[in-house]
Amino acid sequence: MAKKSMQDIELTGKRVLVRVDFNVPRNKTTGEITNDVRIQAGAPTIKYLSEQGAKVIVMTHMGRPKDDTDPILRLDKVAARLAEIIGQPVKKLDKTVGPEVEEAVAAMQNGDVVMLENVRFLPGETKNDPELAAELAKLGDVFVNDAFGTAHRAHCSTEGVGHILPGVMGFLMDKEISVLGKALSEAEHPFVAIVGGSKISDKIGVVQNLLEKVDVLMIGGGMANTFLKAKGYEMGTSLVEDDKTELALEIMAHAEKLGKKLLIPVDVTVATAIDAPETAQTVAADQVPADRMALDIGPETVKIYQDAVMNAKTILWNGPMGVFEVDAFAVGTFAVAHAVAKSPAYSIVGGGDSVASLERTGLNDEIDHISTGGGASLEFLEGKKLPGVEVLQDK
Ligand code: 3PG
Repeated sequence: MAKKSMQDIELTGKRVLVRVDFNVPRNKTTGEITNDVRIQAGAPTIKYLSEQGAKVIVMTHMGRPKDDTDPILRLDKVAARLAEIIGQPVKKLDKTVGPEVEEAVAAMQNGDVVMLENVRFLPGETKNDPELAAELAKLGDVFVNDAFGTAHRAHCSTEGVGHILPGVMGFLMDKEISVLGKALSEAEHPFVAIVGGSKISDKIGVVQNLLEKVDVLMIGGGMANTFLKAKGYEMGTSLVEDDKTELALEIMAHAEKLGKKLLIPVDVTVATAIDAPETAQTVAADQVPADRMALDIGPETVKIYQDAVMNAKTILWNGPMGVFEVDAFAVGTFAVAHAVAKSPAYSIVGGGDSVASLERTGLNDEIDHISTGGGASLEFLEGKKLPGVEVLQDK
C-alpha cells in the first residue's frame, strides 16, 4: 500500500522531526565535505517543511561511530552546507536529545530549522532502543522520513520514532520508492540490468529478483569470475567465490528456463596484480593465464553490453565492471557509464561505486534517476521491505 507523503498532513506550526541521510563523503583529516549530493537531494524536503511553517528538526547519522568522540563526525559542516543550499539559517545543536535540545526546540518559531547532533553518537540508535526513540519522539509532533539511504536500517531515528509519531515520506523517499518500485513492477521493455561488484554473495538477492523482471541481465566485476569458473573456465588468480559456483550454475539455468538473456564476459582484462597495471592485457574469458587475475571486462564484452544498453527502454545499473579505482581496469566501467548515459532508455543507477564512477565521467545529468541509496537500493531491488518505509502511515 502507498505511504502518506508530506502533502497528506497538516504541517503549519507543527514540530516536524525529519530524518535525512546526510552521511556524506568527507576528507578524513579535515572533515570537509567532498560530495554533497545527499544534502542537495534532501534539501527540498527541508525547504518545503520550512515554507509550510513547520518547525523543522533535522536528524541524520554520519559514519559508524562507537561513541561521540570523533570530531570529524560532528555535523557542524553538514548543517552549514545545508544552510547554504536552502538559503536560510540552520541552527546546529551540540546534543542529539536531552534538556538542552528540548529547550532549543521549544524556542523555535514556525519555519525555523535546527539540526541535532549525529544520532549515532548515542549507542541506543542502532539498537533501536525504545527509550531513545521516545526521547527523540518527544521533540516532534510528526515524523518525516526522507532518509532513503538508511531506510533498510531499523534504527531509532529511521524506524523507532515512527511507532510513536505519525510518519510520512519526504520528497526524496517518495521519489526513490516510486522510481525503483516502477522499475520492478511496470518497466518499459526491453528492460536491461547491469549488475557488477566484487562478490556474487552481495548481489545474489538482486540478481535473483531482477532475473524475473528484466529481459537481459549483464554481469560484470569480480562476481563475473565466479560465473566463468562455474562454466568450467580456469580463472588464474582471479577473485572467485568457489562456494558459489553451484549457485552461479543454478542462476544460469534459471535464466534459461525463464527465457532471459544472462550475459557474462566473453573477454577480460587481466594483470598479475591490482597494483601492476603495466602487466594488463586482454584475453578471452576462457584463456586467463594461471598467474593472472581478471580485473575488468574486455573490449568485446564492452561492445556486447553497449549494444544491449543502446537497445533498451529501461536500464538499471548497479555495481562496477572492474577495479575502476585503477585507470587500467576502469575502462569497462566507464564504457558502461557512457553507454547508460547516452542510451535513450529511462536509466536508473544505484550503489555507491557505480554512482562514483558515473560522477567521474561527468555524465550524471544524462541519467534519469541516480539513487542516493547504496545498501538500501540493493535491498529494495531484492524485493525486501524497508523498515524505515514500512513504519510510515498508509494512505
Ligand atoms: C549508506 O551510506 O549506505 C547509508 O548512509 C547507510 O549507512 P550504514 O551502512 O552505516 O547504515
